[in-house]
Amino acid sequence: MPIPGTKVTVEGHAIVSVDGMIAAADGSMPAALHSDADWRLFQAALDRAAIVVLGRLGHARHPNPGRRRLVLTRSVADLASDPGDPLATLWNPGGIAIADLLARLGILEGTVAVTGGTGTFDLFVPHYDRFILSEVRSLTLPDGIPCFSKGHPRLVLPGAGLEARDMEVIDRGVVQTQWVRPSATAA
Ligand SMILES: NC(=O)c1ccc[n+]([C@@H]2O[C@H](COP(=O)([O-])OP(=O)(O)OC[C@H]3O[C@@H](n4cnc5c(N)ncnc54)[C@H](OP(=O)(O)O)[C@@H]3O)[C@@H](O)[C@H]2O)c1
Repeated sequence: MPIPGTKVTVEGHAIVSVDGMIAAADGSMPAALHSDADWRLFQAALDRAAIVVLGRLGHARHPNPGRRRLVLTRSVADLASDPGDPLATLWNPGGIAIADLLARLGILEGTVAVTGGTGTFDLFVPHYDRFILSEVRSLTLPDGIPCFSKGHPRLVLPGAGLEARDMEVIDRGVVQTQWVRPSATAA
């Protein structure tokens, strides 16, 4: 579903274990869940985005290399500037809808890149035009933190109307699939 009043493209990015986890049970990201090739593609995609959407913990954990960020948190009523980062806006989706927020920020076109974790990935399920999913084939993370709370991305993404395209081995044991909403590629 497009974000009303905008022409933005919503693009998700995740690297997951075979069982669809973005992190281990304790919230850490094991080294085996990292791929240099995935990281390069991921960073290049974020550089092209108009804004990057991520959870408050990820924002705190990963220093901002100079991108506009939208940071999910329930610590604000609707939206607020981040006193520690002039490029970041703190956002509570319970207080202001994404369409109104993007209008307030003047982001009406370009790519909104959604980088997780779970609460952030879940929120955009109705809106993804594309989801770039990298899967580490030899890794399982029992009781890990899931990409989507409703199930494996290979079930959630088609359930949201996206189709798998352009599956590619990008690194040893790492397969990347571009999930695309057909309407986003029509015409
Ligand atoms: N493999 C991957 O592709 C990938 C991607 C992303 C993250 N990760 C990893 O996954 C692990 C888990 O991430 P995480 O969940 O700890 O961190 P996170 O998603 O970065 O941050 C979680 C915080 O975001 C806020 N939040 C989430 N959903 C919200 C909603 N619907 N409304 C308002 N605020 C919301 C809450 O902040 P407040 O507490 O301030 O309210 C919540 O505590 C981390 O290890 C991270 O590195 C992996």
